[in-house]
Amino acid sequence: MNPGYIVFAAVIILIVGVSLFFIFRSRNDTPPVPADTSSAPAETDAPETEAKPAPFIEVPTADSAAGDLILVNYDHAYVFPEKDDLVNVYENKTGDFKVAYSYYMMSRHVLDVLISLTHELSESTGEDDLTVNSAYRSLEEQQEIYDEYRDTWGEETAKLYVADPGYSEHHTGLAADLTLVRDDGTALPILQSGAYDEIIRLLRDNGFILRYPEGKKEVTRIETEPWHFRYVGLPHSLIIEKTGLCFEEYIAFLKNFTPDGNVLFVNGSGRLLSVPFEGTASAGSGCAVYRVAASDEAVTRIPVPAGVDAPAVSGDNDGGFIVTVTFGAAPVRVTGVSDDVAAMIDAIAPSN
Ligand code: DAL
Ligand code: ZN
Repeated sequence: MNPGYIVFAAVIILIVGVSLFFIFRSRNDTPPVPADTSSAPAETDAPETEAKPAPFIEVPTADSAAGDLILVNYDHAYVFPEKDDLVNVYENKTGDFKVAYSYYMMSRHVLDVLISLTHELSESTGEDDLTVNSAYRSLEEQQEIYDEYRDTWGEETAKLYVADPGYSEHHTGLAADLTLVRDDGTALPILQSGAYDEIIRLLRDNGFILRYPEGKKEVTRIETEPWHFRYVGLPHSLIIEKTGLCFEEYIAFLKNFTPDGNVLFVNGSGRLLSVPFEGTASAGSGCAVYRVAASDEAVTRIPVPAGVDAPAVSGDNDGGFIVTVTFGAAPVRVTGVSDDVAAMIDAIAPSN
């Protein structure tokens, strides 16, 4: 064959090949036809499965220093409010309990709980000598008590029993020192009441905790005080008792539970679980607890589970809010703890 024909044929084949290559390549590179946005479904028609932002309520950020769950201790000062809800204990007392001094004041809702539980105590056991031995204290009163202790026992001992003025739970109106005063004037620790177990049960079941329990001095920086009770509300008093955490540890523990993760859930059988926030509303009856960090703005947005309008919100006085939501019947007891929650408790208080 004529070599000229061979070269000519090779050139033709090469040209055809290269052309075909570019034709196919350009087809594969063709960008997808843009969606016809005019016929795309409106956002509100999005399928149900798509995540929707949680509903929320708004609270003043300054309120993170107020409420039943505020931590007040050696490094968390109490922020005195402009308006308080203190009422005189003696003027509102019943025959079911006593009060050491007629000037004592307490938060109205805490006194109501005390009135109710002492009525139950007196009805069931006949014990009606439970005595409020200290309640609200002003800065000046705390200073006087502190000075007296320091002058009598020395600074080191005083600090183990009396909080620095400004840092005492007694400023909050949520704390009460309880003792027994018999009719002849004899004062006794509540431990010496024949109804001691019932006193402790009623206090716990109505939202009070023993604030300075044995074995927690390193955390609270206060010596064991078997007389000082602090109202924190339900289900927190039940959880604190079951977990063995002191209040400082409980506030730290709750930081594990947030709306962008899991909440702490006490279910209908009293079991303490960690449940995804999104699934809270369908978790059945029980109580959900979670924490929301306070914002840098004047108002903090608190996400709430679907269908919940008015959760109980308290500041923790540690830069956040604790949210408590009850679905159906409120749990009356904490009976057990799931393994993952137990691991979180252990991480905070290994000795429990
Ligand atoms: N006794 C407690 C610690 C107080 O003074 O607040
Ligand atoms: Zn006290």
